[in-house]
Formats: sequence, structure tokens, C-alpha cells
Amino acid sequence: MAEELNDLALVWGHIVAFLDSAVLKWALDLGIADIIHWCGGPTTISQLSSSLPVPANNSDNLRRLMRYLVYMGLLTSQGEDLYWLTSAAKFILVGDEKSLVPFARLTQQGDGNKWLDLGSLLEEKASKSTFEVLNGEDMSSYAAKHAEYNKFFNEAMASDAPIVTPALIEGCRDIFQGITSLVDIGGGTGTASRAIAKAFPHIKCSVLDLPHVIETIPNYPEVEQVPGDMFSFIPHNHAVMMMKILHDWDDEDCVKILKRCKEAIPEKGGKVIIVDIVMDIEEGHNITRTRYAFDVIMMISTGGKERTEKEWRKLVSSAGFSRCEITVINALQSVIVGYA
Ligand SMILES: C[S@@+](CC[C@H](N)C(=O)[O-])C[C@H]1O[C@@H](n2cnc3c(N)ncnc32)[C@H](O)[C@@H]1O
Repeated sequence: MAEELNDLALVWGHIVAFLDSAVLKWALDLGIADIIHWCGGPTTISQLSSSLPVPANNSDNLRRLMRYLVYMGLLTSQGEDLYWLTSAAKFILVGDEKSLVPFARLTQQGDGNKWLDLGSLLEEKASKSTFEVLNGEDMSSYAAKHAEYNKFFNEAMASDAPIVTPALIEGCRDIFQGITSLVDIGGGTGTASRAIAKAFPHIKCSVLDLPHVIETIPNYPEVEQVPGDMFSFIPHNHAVMMMKILHDWDDEDCVKILKRCKEAIPEKGGKVIIVDIVMDIEEGHNITRTRYAFDVIMMISTGGKERTEKEWRKLVSSAGFSRCEITVINALQSVIVGYA
């Protein structure tokens, strides 16, 4: 019976899982975590209510949503009426350097129900993402024509880079030591390449992205900005980095991109540094589940995929690289290095 009850709770958990996103959205809209953070310590329901558009006679409903945030692991409660932030809550603080709020906002855009109509996605031509089916064009073409979406998208990507890049720098010092120049392909607003230029001043860093992305970013002296299309041209450099790029593309396109990378680096000492999820590195239920979720998100958003270790090695060798090394870092992503 205990087992059946557990199974029942598991299935109910999936049925009501939409609530997690809804409660998170509510908490972000009202800045719940930020208010508690600025209060500087455990915060009461009445302190919270005074900063929120919640009438006093609704404080019981507020308390119930706060209780759900505790079960979501974002708050802790002391007694019935005192709430404080868990260590995970820093990722939902607007001002924190590791804030994922811009990413959450991107996922809250548009009509979520249409996005999640996976049945019709599978009926459509396999190479089309849901984004393409819904908008008639892929994300990059859409972003090039819609300035607001372009800003949303670039800010969302830039919000994840301060989380992944320190893990990359710390976990892969040796990989960067021998490099004199590096181009960050699809580097967006340049958050990662600026951090690399700062950590390894001997490396001349540049970022290549589509013109509509490069146009929106300020000029940073430490990183050269190159507008361009990675399918047509990758500038010569000692190393090429691609952070969360290849998961946007199918295998055929990945091999094309990787071949371009190989042409851009020297035969001796040249390397391509790929930062992407390796699906089958076991690190506990939450991390593995998030990686699998990202795989489905890539299917919906770009038509790309997350890959297993075996798939990465195959891709890198198909593009003509002589050796492939995979390093696990303190991030959802791992580092896959292809040596010329
Ligand atoms: C998933 S985002 C990753 C951004 C960044 N590397 C990061 O880790 O946050 C993909 C990036 O690839 C860029 N991109 C897409 N197609 C491209 C192309 N053909 N040439 C160059 N960049 C491209 C997009 O504009 C976007 O900035």
C-alpha cells in the first residue's frame, strides 16, 4: 500500500506540476524573494503584505502560496509566519549576479499551451521546432525582426553565462593555459568571453554572433566583436569556443559548424572548446532531470538536442578532430574539447 501511495503521489505530482511554474511566475511578478532579501532577515506575512498589492483579508491566501514556495525549495519557514530564503533563492533575485529571472521571463513569454502541444510537434516535419511551427521562422530570424524579443532572448542567455563561465574557468584552467587567441562563437552579449579575457589576460578574445545581436551590445575594449554567420565564416584563432551552441542544431548542422571551426584553428595546438550538456553523466535526480528537460526544450525551441557522451564523441570525430576529451565541471553543462 505504501508503494502504491507513493506511485499515486508521483502521478498527482506530475498532474499538478504546472503549479510550480505558475507559483514561480507569481513570486517573480510580485518580487517575493527580493522583498524578503531587502528585509534582511526572516520576514513575517504582515511585513510582506505591506509591500504587496494583497488586501489584509487575503493574507491567508498569501500564506498558502508562501507555504507552497517552501515546498518548492525556494523559501524556508520558521513557525507559521516567518519566511527566509533558501540558498536556491539567489537564482530568483532580480539583482543577483547569478539571477535566472531573465531566463524565467523568456519561458513565460507567449502562449505556453501552444508551446506545449507536443503531439502536433511530432506530427509536423521532424526538422521543424515548435517555435518555427508557431512563428513561421526560426528563433534567430524572428529575433532579427523583433527588437523586443531580441532583447529578451539576449538578456536571458546572458543571465546563465555568469553561472556557467566561473565553473568553466575553475574546472578547465589547463585547457585555457596554452591558448593565445580565442573566438567565442554565438557568444551573445559577450559575458563569457569577457570573463575569460579577465581570468586569462594572455588570451586575445573575440565574440562572433549574428549582426542583430552584435549591434545591441556595448563596446567592451577587452573583447573584439565580430558580426557574422558561423556557417559561412569563423575567424582564424588558436581556439574556438561554443557555449550552448551545438545543442541548438541537428547532427548534420553540427558537423558543418565543427568543420568550419577546424578550418579556423591551427593543426598544431588548435582546439574547439564546447560547453554543452552531456546527458548521461550521472549526478543525482534533480540534475539529470533538468538535463533531460533541456533536451525536450531544445526540441521545442530550436529543433536541436542534448547529447550523450557517445554522441558527442561521434560528432567531434565526424568533423575530423583527432581527439576528444570530456571534462565534468560544476555546472549542468560539461566541457567537450576537440583537438585538431
Ligand atoms: C543559445 S544562445 C547561446 C549564447 C551564449 N553562447 C551563451 O552561452 O549564453 C545561441 C547564440 O547563437 C547565436 N547564433 C545563432 N545562429 C548563429 C549563426 N548562424 N552564426 C553566429 N551566431 C549564431 C544566437 O544569436 C545566440 O546568441
